[in-house]
Amino acid sequence: VVNPTELFGQRKNSKGTEFGDRWALAALVKARDGAKISGLAADPAKGLATREPIDIRSPVDGQVVGTSRFLTKEGASALMERAKAGVRAAEAVPAAQRAAQLRRMADLLEEREGEFLQLLTREAGKTLDDGIAEIREAVDFCRFYAAEAERMLVQPLALPGPTGEENRLIYRSRGVAVCISPWNFPLAIFLGQVAAALAGGNVVIAKPAEQTPLIAKRAVDLLHEAGFGADVVYLAPGDGEAGAALVAHPATALVAFTGSTETAFAINRSLAARNAPIAPLIAETGGLNAMIVDATALPEQVADDVVRSAFRSAGQRCSALRLLFVQADVADRMLAMIEGAAAELHVGDPAHLETDVGPVIDAAQAEMLTGHVAEMRSKQNVRFEGQLPASLPAAGHYVAPTIIELDRAEALTREVFGPVLHVVRWKAGELEKVCDAVDATGFGLTLGVHSRIDETIRFVKERLTVGNVYVNRNMIGAIVGSQPFGGSGLSGTGPKAGGPNYLARFVREQVISTNT
Ligand code: NAD
Ligand code: ALA
Repeated sequence: VVNPTELFGQRKNSKGTEFGDRWALAALVKARDGAKISGLAADPAKGLATREPIDIRSPVDGQVVGTSRFLTKEGASALMERAKAGVRAAEAVPAAQRAAQLRRMADLLEEREGEFLQLLTREAGKTLDDGIAEIREAVDFCRFYAAEAERMLVQPLALPGPTGEENRLIYRSRGVAVCISPWNFPLAIFLGQVAAALAGGNVVIAKPAEQTPLIAKRAVDLLHEAGFGADVVYLAPGDGEAGAALVAHPATALVAFTGSTETAFAINRSLAARNAPIAPLIAETGGLNAMIVDATALPEQVADDVVRSAFRSAGQRCSALRLLFVQADVADRMLAMIEGAAAELHVGDPAHLETDVGPVIDAAQAEMLTGHVAEMRSKQNVRFEGQLPASLPAAGHYVAPTIIELDRAEALTREVFGPVLHVVRWKAGELEKVCDAVDATGFGLTLGVHSRIDETIRFVKERLTVGNVYVNRNMIGAIVGSQPFGGSGLSGTGPKAGGPNYLARFVREQVISTNT
């Protein structure tokens, strides 16, 4: 197993302590120098059918950040035809060379962190802290999959056999890998999928979310600069129509998808309906993530971890806390502390150092969230709503952190993707019932547990089957290599991103048995 500490050095721990994190500080300073990011165009390769260019507007203030031409479904199919011609050449590049190119990519990203940090704040509305963490994660993914490629792909694996017979397991590319990503990690998830697919020797079609094609365009430019050919990795800007056409094409040999559970279902159905070789789907989807807090938990720590898990990144993390179960004996006190901490959050321009919560991604998300709170208001107890400063730009998409107390967990029936926390009280002796309610959501992504009773922690860990369990800490910001990330059930198929089994899904196995 690749050792993340050897690969990356010591990282930030769950308490937010920095160990020699000078790089992050340097990035902040550089971002303030103001790299030029206006006038960017995220277009696909020439000669492919596209729609008219559209403006990509910042969620911060509605200003145009750049433009993009989205592939039509005919354009997406033509791109697949182009890509499949390059499969043999891509596989012929030795794995060690691909790993070196990924490391070069990591270096280039570090060199350009100021530009990417600006783009992350402008195009995706990321705060500086989130932007820095996201660039680091993208860099880590490149270095991690480079190291994984060297571990797994360079030398054939010698297998046992009788005298006079040699058995070797080798990994070959799958062919054309279609990588489809969401807007909430437009660099880290976009590049994480693409880096693994490239490490595996595939030709890669990289389809970013329609909200964030500009960051993706700059990342693909950098991959080309790092040595991956223009016929090895292609940018496929577009919306769901383009994504669906890529998936349906018979040359698609693998789909790596991160996004909503509904879209994963649609992709699964489309792959199953093709008259083509069976293509695996890696789906990393949503979560209705819970945290269970008992009466022995440390209130200050709970308050800090709840606020961080529910409201940082404006709640726009698949890992974010959505449903807090707090033991009734301590609920009033805990909730008062949580609301006190939430009231301290500063909502504002994500490029400002004092901002804790930036905008949500677009008008549709903002409307969905305010609609949800309005609907809940009639039946449940909306007990806290944060302040939106009057100075916020009218064309920005800001939603105040909100806390809603539910009369029962079942009142929340879907993932509400934003800064809205739901709370339910539970009584001593009802831990099993709480676990049943978590199970009943059908999701299985992240879970938090706060308790000083070992038996409670053991029971919850063993009883629930979520992918990432966080004990007495916050539940966001999984670290590549240390906390491989991904869920099960409605939350995804695995393997976990940033873990030792991920790269294996991007290659196919071949065994060669030779009579010597
Ligand atoms: P989404 O499903 O709407 O879109 C994701 C991507 O799929 C976009 O690129 C979109 O253009 C594309 N797409 C849409 N319809 C398609 C189709 N029919 N065929 C192929 N591609 C299609 O999701 P979103 O709103 O961009 O992202 C938010 C969701 O992502 C949340 O549910 C969140 O929990 C989830 N998410 C999960 C993880 C994880 O690791 N588990 C990480 C981040 C986000
Ligand atoms: N990997 C991201 C996190 O852990 C989604 O928050």
